[in-house]
Amino acid sequence: MKLCREPSRFMIVLLLTSSIPAAVSSQASTIDQRIDELLSRMTLDEKVGQLVQYPGYSEDRAQAIREGKIGSFLNVPGAENSNQVQRIAVEESRLGIPLIFGLDVIHGFRTIFPIPLATASSWDPELVTAIEAIAAREARASGVHWTFAPMVDIARDARWGRISEGAGEDPYLGSAMAAARVRGFQGDDLTAADRIMACLKHYVAYGQPVGGRDYNSVDMSERSLREIYLPPFKAGADAGAASLMSAFNLLNGVPTTANKFTLNQILRGEWGFEGFIVSDWNSVGELVQHGYAGDAADAARLALNATIDLDMASGIYDGQLADLVRANVIPEELLDQSVRRVLRAKFMLGLFDNPYVDPETETAAILRDDHVAAARDAARKSMVLLKNDGALLPLSEDIGSIAVIGPLADNQVDLLGSWHAMGQPEDVVTVLAGIQSRAAPTTTITYAQGSTITGAETDGFAEAVAAARDADVAIVVVGEREYETGEGASRTALDLPGVQPALIEAVHETGTPVVAVIMSGRPLTIPWLAENVPAILQAWHPGIQGGNAVADLLWGDYNPSGKLTASFPRSVGQIPIYYARDITGRPGTDFKYTSRYIDSPDTPLYPFGYGLSYTTFEYGDLTLSADTITVNDTLTVSATVSNTGDVAGAEVVQLYIRDPVASVVRPVKELKGFTKIYLEPGEQQTVQFTLRARELGFFDQEMLWAIEPGVFNVWVGWSSDEGLEGSFVLSGN
Ligand code: NOJ
Repeated sequence: MKLCREPSRFMIVLLLTSSIPAAVSSQASTIDQRIDELLSRMTLDEKVGQLVQYPGYSEDRAQAIREGKIGSFLNVPGAENSNQVQRIAVEESRLGIPLIFGLDVIHGFRTIFPIPLATASSWDPELVTAIEAIAAREARASGVHWTFAPMVDIARDARWGRISEGAGEDPYLGSAMAAARVRGFQGDDLTAADRIMACLKHYVAYGQPVGGRDYNSVDMSERSLREIYLPPFKAGADAGAASLMSAFNLLNGVPTTANKFTLNQILRGEWGFEGFIVSDWNSVGELVQHGYAGDAADAARLALNATIDLDMASGIYDGQLADLVRANVIPEELLDQSVRRVLRAKFMLGLFDNPYVDPETETAAILRDDHVAAARDAARKSMVLLKNDGALLPLSEDIGSIAVIGPLADNQVDLLGSWHAMGQPEDVVTVLAGIQSRAAPTTTITYAQGSTITGAETDGFAEAVAAARDADVAIVVVGEREYETGEGASRTALDLPGVQPALIEAVHETGTPVVAVIMSGRPLTIPWLAENVPAILQAWHPGIQGGNAVADLLWGDYNPSGKLTASFPRSVGQIPIYYARDITGRPGTDFKYTSRYIDSPDTPLYPFGYGLSYTTFEYGDLTLSADTITVNDTLTVSATVSNTGDVAGAEVVQLYIRDPVASVVRPVKELKGFTKIYLEPGEQQTVQFTLRARELGFFDQEMLWAIEPGVFNVWVGWSSDEGLEGSFVLSGN
């Protein structure tokens, strides 16, 4: 029996309309009038120009700007630069329509924060909003109006380098982070001098390419698409994201840049998304490369029909659209719709009234002290303590000697991580510098690089071993280069690159306790470390304050509170790996013919939601507000969490559910809530979650949202695989 079945469209429209702030709607009519007026004066070529975006600026583009044939640039940061180019559009073109400048402000503009996968590991949407607001302030002051972020692609395959740019494997957490980042970039008023427009990307399913190989095709059920990959886009759209980027990949055989199902039907139709859509870099051109469009004209037609408004970098709209309209292949009304959407964004940004930025404001905004302090705070809240045997950490104040070892220990550039916008290596505090400034004057610190990150040379091992032998503790800082992560950086092996594993083994053999600090853009396969070294801190690519943040954690000035948002596989062979797997007919046991590996446990090395603290938290008193609820009810689930250790700390309390019997088999667990609390030693707090019966639904066999009666399991836990368990009944009455 189904309690409730409804087209997904119903829920979605409800959510969307309730999220439009009144101020925006009243402003919209004025903007619409201004757009109408402008549009009536535009020639066909000028209209097409608004849909054209080129990368960088060079003088040979000046004439096209004067003629109104370019509406946007990417990669023209800097107040002076952008003003100079803007002046051509505003003062020398016939209609004076301002340009919109976009840039990949992925985790900071000049003040570089930890990579997005790291800040998602804070499980702290407010923190994420705050850092994106800082990124927005610096970017806008520099003449950037628009970021190509957040990337909200769910990723369950760490071979894919771009896992670093997202929030990990889970749609619920991914949705919370998507909304938080949009709010941070955009605030309430895009005309403000410290806000930029967000762009949800890459629509859609780009994060699940076959083989984990970037740009590769995606083959996926509509249910997975709707339940796992679309929700963060929906959440970002509901939070008001003004733009969205299509992707490079095929989805079930159809390129996502011309996909009428995902773009026209779901995004524009079901969700009513009115923002503008930019293609990814040359993804309109790649319609030909894919073998989906016969030639450039065909590609332009297919993309515009799928409501791709702005053509990034391919030049195909520039070369083709006007002719296609003249030949009646594309109706001018269709073109006008796209032009309207782009113009609306320019009005929303206030560019017609304020096209320029003040270079003095730029200087004042960049690397402000509070921005740098926020980078340190974000970094320490993003790091995840994976192991801490024998309470090796925190280090004691009077520790005699520390050996700081490894190719990322005295490294600046790689701590910036991929896509570091205007970030500069010289802004980065290295781990060595962080340790040197934190350690007591009586502590001896020695440093040995040991090896490079990717090279094969082991000449430096002897010095590293000698340093470790003489020290009380060895802090070994290892990981990936920044360019080994992010776009175009898929890997088939996820071990620490180069000879780093051998370096750690050599240091470990000295008998000096080892703290491994891992700086990577993805989960790496580290079973040897997990087995052999007493302490592991997953520090990700932590940004400009990474070294200070590591020191804060090593000495316990800040108690680690990050939790994983992507499962750590034991080996690449387990990929894709994620906690919300389906229940199989043969759950793995010791018996051979069950769903398991014969050469490895099927569990991850470290699960989603996992992370240690220097204190201990005890969970108790799981209470449900009712044993039975109806479809219109809300269940309250509460539990008490006590800090039973000696130091204060923050804990991420997680709510999971499972629908054990359903007409479509449900995952073993699904995250449905989380909260981060801070407790002094001995302090206790009751945490309450509200779970609406409506959230217990799923897409049924006809792709309709269904809520089915029956028993549900619920957990309040400290990771996806541990917690207090209860159950309740959703009644059919
Ligand atoms: C290609 C990437 O896929 C996209 O994420 C980025 O925003 C654009 N290039 C622009 O740099």
